Amino acid sequence: MRFNAKGHTKRTALPWLALSLATVALLAACGGGGSGEGLDANGRPLSEGEDPSGPLLPNFRSIQSHVFTPRCTGCHAGATAPRGLRLDATNSYALLVGVSAGEVPALKRVAAGDPDNSYLIQKLEGHASVGARMPLGGPYLDDASVNVIRQWIKNGAVQ
Ligand code: HEC
Repeated sequence: MRFNAKGHTKRTALPWLALSLATVALLAACGGGGSGEGLDANGRPLSEGEDPSGPLLPNFRSIQSHVFTPRCTGCHAGATAPRGLRLDATNSYALLVGVSAGEVPALKRVAAGDPDNSYLIQKLEGHASVGARMPLGGPYLDDASVNVIRQWIKNGAVQ
């Protein structure tokens, strides 16, 4: 194939090349600084969300960085975490998903696929049968935020 002055034959390849380069640049920018310790399956630091200044999204990393870390770890961290529920980035997933609630052991804290029967949601909405609404003392999450967490659970509560 030879080039001609009108360039028809090669025209469609250029946007794809530009997109690929942009993707590589983006991945490089996100992946920096890791030592291999505390990284998730995608090699990103567990403690960081995708963009703390961006919107809350129905995925675990976004919920961690927008809700659990800033709103819950003041109490739910370390050896004295209420009900043993640590919500820091390193521990939260393993202590939430598929784990029985301390207050109501018949319910999972997060029952994958079933937000209504997830104790986390009941505590955030303030209708759990034991204890107070979370975050304790407020201010509470707005409905839109709770609905994003509901959506994450409904989608399978993947990490
Ligand atoms: C000011 C301290 C404080 C903050 C902040 C707080 N909690 Fe709690 N949390 C508690 C205490 C104390 C309990 C146990 C008593 C109760 O349930 O009322 C508790 C219990 C819970 C339980 C029940 C755990 C179980 O297994 O029974 C869940 C779930 C929970 N909190 C989620 C959250 C979430 C999510 C946040 C952040 C959005 C949060 N909490 C913020 C103090 C706090």
